[in-house]
Amino acid sequence: MTVQMIEVKLCETKKKKPESSQLGFGRVFTDHMFVADYTEGQGWSDHRIVPYEPITLDPAAIVFHYGQTVFEGLKAYLSKDGSVRLFRPEQNMRRMNQSSARLCMPQIDEDLAIEALKELLIIDKEWIPTAEGTSLYIRPFMIATESHLGVSPSKKYSFMIILSPVGSYYKEGIHPVKILVENEYVRAVAGGTGTAKTAGNYASGLRAQEVAGQKGYAQVLWLDGVEKKYIEEVGSMNVFFKINGEVITPMLNGSILEGITRKSIIQLLNHWDIPVTERKISMDEIREATENGTLEEAFGTGTAAVISPIGEFNWQDNKYVVNNGVTGQLSKRLYENLTGIQTGAIEDPFNWIVEVD
Ligand code: COI
Repeated sequence: MTVQMIEVKLCETKKKKPESSQLGFGRVFTDHMFVADYTEGQGWSDHRIVPYEPITLDPAAIVFHYGQTVFEGLKAYLSKDGSVRLFRPEQNMRRMNQSSARLCMPQIDEDLAIEALKELLIIDKEWIPTAEGTSLYIRPFMIATESHLGVSPSKKYSFMIILSPVGSYYKEGIHPVKILVENEYVRAVAGGTGTAKTAGNYASGLRAQEVAGQKGYAQVLWLDGVEKKYIEEVGSMNVFFKINGEVITPMLNGSILEGITRKSIIQLLNHWDIPVTERKISMDEIREATENGTLEEAFGTGTAAVISPIGEFNWQDNKYVVNNGVTGQLSKRLYENLTGIQTGAIEDPFNWIVEVD
């Protein structure tokens, strides 16, 4: 398959673009989207860039009933010299294929998906916001479209890429968020779908997130699904702690999402010779570290969340305040360097950036 096979149909009227300063997360979409369709036995066909518009699906489409769907999230940035930059897109396309394999969905051609994305970005380039803290969020996703109420993998799929100019994910912006440690519900267990980026993982987390929101917390921190003792991840991000000079993040254990920002932060810390360890870490350890004053910082990492400092954990109705509720030095340094590399303000020593044009 080659990029020449992508048909392009441009929209007749362009939509009004939002003010950069007004941008929240994921409510505004650009003028175009990429679509390709899959049929078992025939493979992918009809690669096309078309005006962004609602799609029509049969009410019996498998995605509506059994949640056979996967997605990704990455971002594009406009550098000062006007070039469009993608952050590690090959990692997202690879992870999308891993998620698809878990959900019995077909593999995409990763290179073709990146080429299609680049072409879409060139067409909708003027939608990339430039204000501090903004970017163009990219959502590739695949849905099962066959009409069938029997529980079996679909024989038909659509792969799409949509684009959304975004600001900060949390209303707190770069200020520390407060997190409720979830004691009742669990997100995933080893052998489940926790490592896949699939809708069901997020749907099953909504109830806990709603309760946390009612109590004034931005998100929940999930504990392991067996003992409810070890830290897994926050709803939309992986989590890191700095205790006594060492940075610790839960090890990948078969139920945690393998975050691309997580991996990049570990690489950055290694590059700076800051000790970083991937291991099991319990809430008891966080309580102790807060009580004896060795918990220096906590922060979340994710494409949408970037680096989000955490100012407080509430666990079993006890509040554990981190760094007096203010952003720590390391969180700040990581945020500045990561976003600096992404936007081109700082040189990229890792070859993470893929230039679009
Ligand atoms: C991302 O960070 O891209 C995510 O997918 C998290 C979320 C918005 C569900």
